[in-house]
Amino acid sequence: MKVSHAEFRAAARRPAEIPPAIGPEIALAGRSNVGKSSLINRMVGRRRLARTSSTPGCTRGLIFYAIDDRLTLVDLPGYGWARRSQAERATWKALVEHYLEHRSELAGVLILVDVRRGPGEEERMLADYLDRAGIAYTWVLTKCDKLGRSRLATRLRELAGEFSMVEPIVASAVRGDGVDRIWRWIGERL
Ligand code: GTP
Ligand code: MG
Repeated sequence: MKVSHAEFRAAARRPAEIPPAIGPEIALAGRSNVGKSSLINRMVGRRRLARTSSTPGCTRGLIFYAIDDRLTLVDLPGYGWARRSQAERATWKALVEHYLEHRSELAGVLILVDVRRGPGEEERMLADYLDRAGIAYTWVLTKCDKLGRSRLATRLRELAGEFSMVEPIVASAVRGDGVDRIWRWIGERL
């Protein structure tokens, strides 16, 4: 899928700020620093559409990007960032849950996991929730450029058992690996 136009549409820090849906939405979920915003930039071919940072907790709230009048990509706030206050984390959890539970236009979720780290408790809980809610998702293993070819192959074998039946998409926002597969997966959901 070739993107010709992508633009910031809205940021929501509370449920009331979530904009009305204008069409199907695909959300990116995952820990802080896993590379959600970087992957969005790579997917749309823009270096600085979504703000990225090596400091976790860069993206605050839900960020909506309109893609060619066809689709909205939603950058979900990263969880697992210890330096956030308890209260703030609880607010965001409620915000993300509100979004996932009420967005009938949500066509799919990309669950991003750092390939070096693998999925943890939060990711498995999210996948279970999506299964139960009947929302399609796929696993995306990010930052594959950080491992050499043979270490990556070993790592993928180690992780294989973690993903029941589904083949995860191996991706790099730096090199662009996996981006075509991600767009294909999205295309099948629209
Ligand atoms: P939050 O907004 O805090 O939830 O983080 P995020 O998931 O949006 O992560 P972000 O895209 O801001 O990336 C975090 C850091 O990882 C940045 O320093 C990025 O440059 C780096 N990064 C992201 N993707 C990749 C990748 O594929 N390869 C490499 N080598 N670095 C990456
Ligand atoms: Mg971000």
